[in-house]
Amino acid sequence: RTVYLNGDYLPEAEAKVSIFDRGFVMGDGVYEVTSVLDGRLLDFAGHMRRLTRSLAELGMGNPLTDDEWLHAHRQLVTLNDVTEGMVYLQVTRGNPGDRDFAYPPEDTPQTVVMFTQSKPGLADNPQAKTGIRVISIPDLRWHRRDIKTVQLLYPSMAKMEAKHRGVDDAWFTEDGFVTEGTSNNTYIVKDGRIVTRPLSNDILHGITRASLLRYAAEAQMQIEERPFTIAEAQAADEAFLTSASAFVMPVVEVDGVALGSGRPGPVATRLREIYLEESR
Ligand code: PDD
Repeated sequence: RTVYLNGDYLPEAEAKVSIFDRGFVMGDGVYEVTSVLDGRLLDFAGHMRRLTRSLAELGMGNPLTDDEWLHAHRQLVTLNDVTEGMVYLQVTRGNPGDRDFAYPPEDTPQTVVMFTQSKPGLADNPQAKTGIRVISIPDLRWHRRDIKTVQLLYPSMAKMEAKHRGVDDAWFTEDGFVTEGTSNNTYIVKDGRIVTRPLSNDILHGITRASLLRYAAEAQMQIEERPFTIAEAQAADEAFLTSASAFVMPVVEVDGVALGSGRPGPVATRLREIYLEESR
């Protein structure tokens, strides 16, 4: 696989980063994941806007222009022959040459890393036909979940807990309400209305979420942006989640309780179709 490191396209074994890199030692960096379908990037502009915002919230500039990012994304997709999959990008505060809590001087070069992952069958994911099962877990992450940092230990722990308990993913709860999933935004459907938590610092501002809500509104679907509880989810007709890697994924069980028919519902199924049609 060819990867990108600070302007160079290299075989992955040759791409090396300092052990003092702030991303490695401090988790001081942000990332984006953009999906690739039919060799084309999905929602690219949205991912670029969020990247700039995440960097700015951490006092960092954007090391590349949107055109440079686009070029690098396309180069990697071509060089690695990605038809379906994703492009990962990460920007860290670079290598200060030592470990220190204080940020290094502003002219310290950031570390920019990109790679692709091929995932053939992404759009035809069989899980979308059966739906997935989730458990709830207290949201113990920090309170700036709107920044897409590389600090993913707690979501990884939650994912492992879900696996150990024989289900697919975990939904985080805080003060009795669902915040989001380990790596996705969450929704329920009741009496035809789509309910999802409003944007704030409590959740990541999903790019798939933004597109989906736009498509749903265009399709005259009713949307209610408000927090919901696990009990509400269990009593809902349907549930689903969105992310760049899952698109729209039906959820059929929450904490052991089957929702509605226990199968992917018509709204989630339709929204997945709409999302794939519109973004292709
Ligand atoms: N995760 N919430 C969290 C905590 C996420 O990590 C993600 C994305 C989302 C959905 O955002 P988007 O629709 O922009 O992908 C919501 C990516 C896919 C990941 O970490 O792999």
